[in-house]
Amino acid sequence: MLAGLVFFLNACSNDDNQTVETLETPVANAPKDVNDHGFKAKWNYVSHSKSYLLDVSTAENFTSFVPNYNAKEITDLNDAVTGLTGGTQYYYRVRAKNETQISDYSNVIAVVTTGTSNIPEDPTFLKVKVNKLANPFFVGMAIKASQLTNGSPYDVILKNEFSSISAEYEMKMDQISTASGVYNWAAADKIVAYGNANNINVHGHALVWHNAVPQWLKDFSGTDAEFAAEVKKYITDVVTHYAGKVKSWDVVNEAVDDSGAMRNTIFLQRMGPNYVKDCFQWAREAANAAGDTSLLLFYNDYATSANTAKQDKVFSLLDDLKAAKAIDGVGFQMHNTYLSPTKAQIEADLNKAVAKGLKIHVSELDIQVNQFNDISAFTNERRLAQKAKYKEMVQIYNALPAANKYALTIWGMRDNESWIPFSTELNHPGNDWPLLYDSNFAVKSSHTGFLEGLD
Ligand code: G3I
Repeated sequence: MLAGLVFFLNACSNDDNQTVETLETPVANAPKDVNDHGFKAKWNYVSHSKSYLLDVSTAENFTSFVPNYNAKEITDLNDAVTGLTGGTQYYYRVRAKNETQISDYSNVIAVVTTGTSNIPEDPTFLKVKVNKLANPFFVGMAIKASQLTNGSPYDVILKNEFSSISAEYEMKMDQISTASGVYNWAAADKIVAYGNANNINVHGHALVWHNAVPQWLKDFSGTDAEFAAEVKKYITDVVTHYAGKVKSWDVVNEAVDDSGAMRNTIFLQRMGPNYVKDCFQWAREAANAAGDTSLLLFYNDYATSANTAKQDKVFSLLDDLKAAKAIDGVGFQMHNTYLSPTKAQIEADLNKAVAKGLKIHVSELDIQVNQFNDISAFTNERRLAQKAKYKEMVQIYNALPAANKYALTIWGMRDNESWIPFSTELNHPGNDWPLLYDSNFAVKSSHTGFLEGLD
């Protein structure tokens, strides 16, 4: 106790004898917020330091410096390095500094700016080739918010190859609406912000779908009129929230069943047969009230090409919506197989929409190769059959008149993440490989088929 007190007094009073502590070398950390024009350089705190000297260079041995980043003095533990060139390798390191000392250099961190604007255009990138067409269209991809981390393989592929995104499920009612008038925007906002920040079109999918009704609305005990008011409020609030940020919405999804009747959904039961038109009108009113007069409204459905009863009903619904001036376009999901529908069936289906002056979105394209579970591995024969079918779809789409083209969207990036394999909804009996990239993000022959379809 006494010895401790003596040590304390000595330490406080004897300035002359105090040893000057050597500044520790800082540790530089991986960057954050890497983008086309810069990144946030980061490092750890060093005790007794007052500031840090940051070097940024394109040379690993720092023989030259990025202007203003030769020992740039910073008092924080990070710095937003800006004004850089896209798609370029940079290096950074720091030293700690106080009134009397400068530490050794930290470790060196390597970082490549994302480079969406500066990398040479690769003609094997889908959107690069599409954008060179006389009448281009958006090349879309279904995505999930968790995939959008800067620098992830999804992020790189999206920025290189795709010009539109659709949320695979996070912009549906069961995800956004947690109770009457209560919204969880987090995932949907992330998706929309990603598209807006990266000059990627955002297609909203989907305001009203019988498979995405939140439990509170299923259980809703009010009158039918009050139920309709809840749906109106939801559509109004969501369209308003994303006004000017989302270019188009699937207003109603899959209102027709496979027999060609109106699907017997909670919306039909509670709101009556005019519910589809009501939803479109509410969406339009909300957009206009929010100052977005160019929002595109779509009706979206599946399996119309090979099922003429369903096709006829969908087109009579579209006629009604058209007559009410409530609709801009139609989404053909196109969850197809390597055998079906035929080219002639698809063309006839799409051409009906052309005749009605509607924009056409091939909205959820994937092509199964194992719908009978007759293969246990992706065979070369199926690979080529799938490639041919992708090529055919792109050829059909590309041949549409310019005014009718909107987007051709692929429903998921990697085969192993597709909804198709073992889908109970489809009664799919086994594994499948329906998309453009394999489980390693490598392009498949189907991707080449897409490119060839543009020739
Ligand atoms: O609800 C939970 C959510 O809160 C949680 O964050 C998440 C974590 O994974 O799980 C959630 O469930 C998700 C579910 O949709 C919600 O209904 C699943 O993960 C998700 O995979 C899921 O499936 C999607 C499905 O629509 C239902 O929304 C599929 O990914 C998507 O491919 C599928 O897409 C539909 C189109 O929208 C319309 N056409 C048919 C197509 C296939 O069903």
